[in-house]
Amino acid sequence: MSEEKKYEPIGVELEEGKRYAWCSCSHSGDQPFCDGSHRAADTDKVSMGFEAEESGTKYLCTCKQTSNPPYCDGTHNSL
Ligand code: FES
Repeated sequence: MSEEKKYEPIGVELEEGKRYAWCSCSHSGDQPFCDGSHRAADTDKVSMGFEAEESGTKYLCTCKQTSNPPYCDGTHNSL
């Protein structure tokens, strides 16, 4: 029996105008945000800084395959 890893976006409360660092390497223990783990991991990926355009609950990608980072675009459904 194989173990399949299922990805789901994580809903987070963002504040308009505030900056956040989205994890693009998947090693962070604080998903969907960067916790600096990429520095110790064997990856060339780094965090992606972004500014929230509006306040509210937003669903951020955890599969790291989205075409609209940091936001989930549904790509995880086809993985
Ligand atoms: S979690 Fe939905 S596209 Fe990555």
